[in-house]
Amino acid sequence: MAYSEKVIDHYQNPKNVGTLDKSQKNVGTGLVGAPECGDVMRLQIQVDDSTGMITDAKFKTFGCGSAIASSSLATEWLKGKSVDEALQIDNMTIVEELNLPPVKIHCSVLAEDAIKAAINDYRKKNGLEEIVFEEKA
Ligand code: FES
Ligand code: FES
Repeated sequence: MAYSEKVIDHYQNPKNVGTLDKSQKNVGTGLVGAPECGDVMRLQIQVDDSTGMITDAKFKTFGCGSAIASSSLATEWLKGKSVDEALQIDNMTIVEELNLPPVKIHCSVLAEDAIKAAINDYRKKNGLEEIVFEEKA
């Protein structure tokens, strides 16, 4: 299967690989796994409490090229967005941007799920109710 150029670029030069300090109250961590293949993705956001803006995002993905590319792209998109705007990131936008084939759609779902999990972790740490999301097929 041929990967698109954008996937290869994010795979070879992933943006924002790394770790944020989990002990900080303004850092949210999402850790999700894909039942389809067992790949695992950790995505973290750092929020400026006074503005509600995401000032930093990092990821570590143990998975396929599409999952790495999806999380790299997701962290790029997250930076500079508000938490509310971040919730609008849909996996199909990632699919379109990276030109992922149907068998790789779940890799992008992993990134969306990781974003949601990171936001919920941030909310929980700050006394906010967790958001209940609908399952993605
Ligand atoms: Fe092999 Fe995802 S299925 S890395
Ligand atoms: Fe499973 Fe990409 S995350 S193949």
